[in-house]
Amino acid sequence: MSRARKGFTVWFTGLPSAGKSTLAELLAPELRRRGHGVEVLDGDVVRTHLCKGLGFSKEDRDENIRRIGFVCAMVTRHGGAAIAAAISPYRAIREEVRGKVGNFVEVYVQTAVETCIQRDVKGLYKKALAGELKGFTGVDDPYEPPGNPELIIATETESPQESTARILRKLEELGYVEPLPGAEHAPEEEARIRERLVRLGYLAS
Ligand code: ADX
Repeated sequence: MSRARKGFTVWFTGLPSAGKSTLAELLAPELRRRGHGVEVLDGDVVRTHLCKGLGFSKEDRDENIRRIGFVCAMVTRHGGAAIAAAISPYRAIREEVRGKVGNFVEVYVQTAVETCIQRDVKGLYKKALAGELKGFTGVDDPYEPPGNPELIIATETESPQESTARILRKLEELGYVEPLPGAEHAPEEEARIRERLVRLGYLAS
């Protein structure tokens, strides 16, 4: 019989194209494998329903984060794992959400703006740099990095799998996640082994 889990929220913050959604999508199945009920709240996705109609002024961004935070607090309260992936550029509103959620794990996805510009997953930096899109975070709109996040992920020096393993280890340290039963390896080592098995075709990615 599975034991009741402690709820928590992993809050990814960082510039556009920093890697927030990628990490959220890698983390979710790992938490499910460990028996957690997981909800992912991705800025790009929630802006099509829960936050539909909101723009990118400071007021609208704050409202977006408040709504995402509200759902995260509900999921957390009921013992689930909420994963938020939104730029969430303003420190004060992130702190407000932290206070409301309680079990809040802020993960700063720290990627240099030059790297984000190179990645430019949706081609929006290009538009912003050409002056065709105004108020784009990292170009002509502010991003306030966290002062004291639970974890900083340097996406330029580690693979997404290594970052995910580090996040899991932090969640274990904080007492939100238990190591997989029978896991004899550190999460990093486990991630490397999984990667190797996927490459060899023994495991689906
Ligand atoms: S937040 O600032 O309110 O946290 P959120 O993460 O929901 O932003 O949405 C960011 C996404 O909206 C980006 O990935 C990008 O695709 C799109 N977007 C459109 N306009 C902007 C803009 N001016 N600044 C940042 N992102 C924008």
